[in-house]
Order: sequence, then structure tokens, then C-alpha cells
Amino acid sequence: MVLTRSQVVVDALRAAVRAPSPHNTQPWIFELTPDTIDVVLDESRVLGACDPEAREARLACGAALLNLRLAIAAAGRGSEVELAPERGRVSLLARVTLGPRHRPTVTERRLAAAIPRRYSNRRPFTDEPVPLRVRTAVREAARDEGARLVLLDEAGLLEATAGLIRRADHLQGLDAAFRREIRAWTRQTAEDDGVPAYAGGPRSAGGLLPGRYVNEDGAPRVFEQDPLVAVLTMPNDAPVSQVRAGCAMQRVLLTATDAGLSASFYSQPIEITAVRAELHDLLGGAGHPQTIFRLGYGYPGVKTPRRPIEAVARDRREAERP
Ligand SMILES: Cc1cc2nc3c(=O)[nH]c(=O)nc-3n(C[C@H](O)[C@H](O)[C@H](O)COP(=O)(O)O)c2cc1C
Repeated sequence: MVLTRSQVVVDALRAAVRAPSPHNTQPWIFELTPDTIDVVLDESRVLGACDPEAREARLACGAALLNLRLAIAAAGRGSEVELAPERGRVSLLARVTLGPRHRPTVTERRLAAAIPRRYSNRRPFTDEPVPLRVRTAVREAARDEGARLVLLDEAGLLEATAGLIRRADHLQGLDAAFRREIRAWTRQTAEDDGVPAYAGGPRSAGGLLPGRYVNEDGAPRVFEQDPLVAVLTMPNDAPVSQVRAGCAMQRVLLTATDAGLSASFYSQPIEITAVRAELHDLLGGAGHPQTIFRLGYGYPGVKTPRRPIEAVARDRREAERP
């Protein structure tokens, strides 16, 4: 446990842990000095079956990093970020150094305010279309972090991507290790990590987009007729790019939340190398797919728990002690 932390750091850590993560594994550790927060990948929480290269874990840490930056800015302090600050330590993904006083922008305030309101909503959305203005805003959010958000608003592209999601979902269903992992991280009782059963969605009546953590007992439900599905891509696929992709993913999700939208993920094609390559080709080879989500107007859902910040933060000097 760290001794004295400023309120800015405590609030920033509380914001960081609200980031999304695969199976709600929360694969992060924060190592602190009085004016720095290191974001470290917790390798013990990387999912062996669905995320063997830790790409999704790095995305989750990138999302936590964006939350840190926004919370610090909204608290009236600047910050500098260095990615991969120590060559010899690959699990050290980023170092955030607190800066001098800073006047938060309107966007920083709004996105920081959206952090506690964001959650994955796996239920059907309404048929209300997402307006052009909001589509532009989420695309720009990705661009601001060096990524590209491809909105699958052409019928052919959506059909083809949905086909890849279904195929990857089927392949994962045949994989015993994958099924075991999902079971191990699905919680029937309240715990501070993993996906609680109540956060699952219903089976989809049409089956266009098969979800994960599906409530198999309930009746199938009709999902929105014309779902808005988006693929986030990066110019390259290096580990540091995956951390940046996480920042972009989170900026998109917070921008969507701020605009009143809900989102849920469909990572199946990303998690199978050969299917990810097909998705890359389908999108014209322009960028490396990092994550896929559905955006729309949802009915209010439920938030998932997090481990307390005491469980994920430690003093950097303590961590460096042999
Ligand atoms: C990189 C990444 C991939 C994810 N993939 C899926 C997915 O394929 N299906 C799904 O339902 N949720 C997926 N999630 C959402 C997580 O399960 C969710 O973030 C976690 O359970 C915490 O819940 P919250 O998002 O409601 O805070 C993914 C999250 C991340 C960061």
C-alpha cells in the first residue's frame, strides 16, 4: 500500500480501473511515485486461450491510461505520457508524469464525466439510427488517438464482417480451453472481477451477431434491424500500437457514452489470427484491426464491479526492491 497519495492521483486511479477489459480481468498494476503513475501489464491476468499474445490486455491498459489522462486533466493538472519508457521491461507500458496546473477543455471535462457512466451493454438497442454528427464525433475520437474507426455502414461490409464474427464464434465454441476460460471468468455471485451473469445479454433471435456471456436460459430476443458495427484499426500492430489502440477505443467509447450511446464488443474475429487476417483484407488492408464494437441507443443496463485501487496500486520503489 502506498503511503501518501494526492487526491488527484487517487481520483485518477479510481477512473483508471473503470476501463473495460477482456472478461473483466483488469490486467493492470499502477506503480506510483509522488508525481508519476506507471501503467504495468499484469501478466498473471492475461487470458491464455483467447488472448495469448496479450493484445486485448494491452488494449485494456491503454483504456485505463486514457482514463488516467482525462481524470488528471479534469482535476486541473497537465500530464505527459511516455509509452514503453524502459526498454528492458516490456510489461511497463506507459509512464504518466503529472504536470503543472492546467485548464481542462470542455471535451476533457465531458469525457472524464463519462468514465463512470460507461459500461458494456449486451442487450438489443433501439432501431433509432445514430445521427451523422455522432458518427463523425466517434470517428474523430479515434483519429485524435492515431487510430481509424471504420463504420460498417455499407450493407455488404456489415454482412461480411458479421459472417467472420459468426465463424470465429463457432470456432471458439469448439475449443475446450476457450470455453473453460469463459466459464472461469463468468461469476454467479458478486466478486470484484470477472463478468457477473447479470451483465450478459439475451440470445439474438436472428443470430446476425452472436454475443458472448449469453444468457442461455432466457428466450431469444430480436436485436436492432440495422446495427451500427465499427472496427477500430491501427497503422501497425506492434505492442505499443495496441496500447495506443486502447486509448483510441476508450476515447471512442467515452465519446459515444457522452452522446447517449451504448456499446458492446464482438472480439471473436480479433482473437483468431487467421480470421483477423481475413478482416484486415476485407477492410482493404488499410489498417490492422484491434477491436470491434456495436454502437446504438440502449436501454439502461448495469455496471460491473472492479477491484479496489489498493489491490492494483503500489509504490514504485517497493516494486523495484529486489
Ligand atoms: C479488448 C476487449 C475485448 C472485449 N471483447 C468482448 C467480447 O468479445 N464480448 C463481450 O461481450 N465483451 C467484451 N469485452 C467487454 C468486457 O467483457 C467488459 O469490458 C468487462 O466485462 C467489464 O465490463 P464493462 O465494460 O461493463 O465495464 C471486451 C473488452 C475489451 C477491453
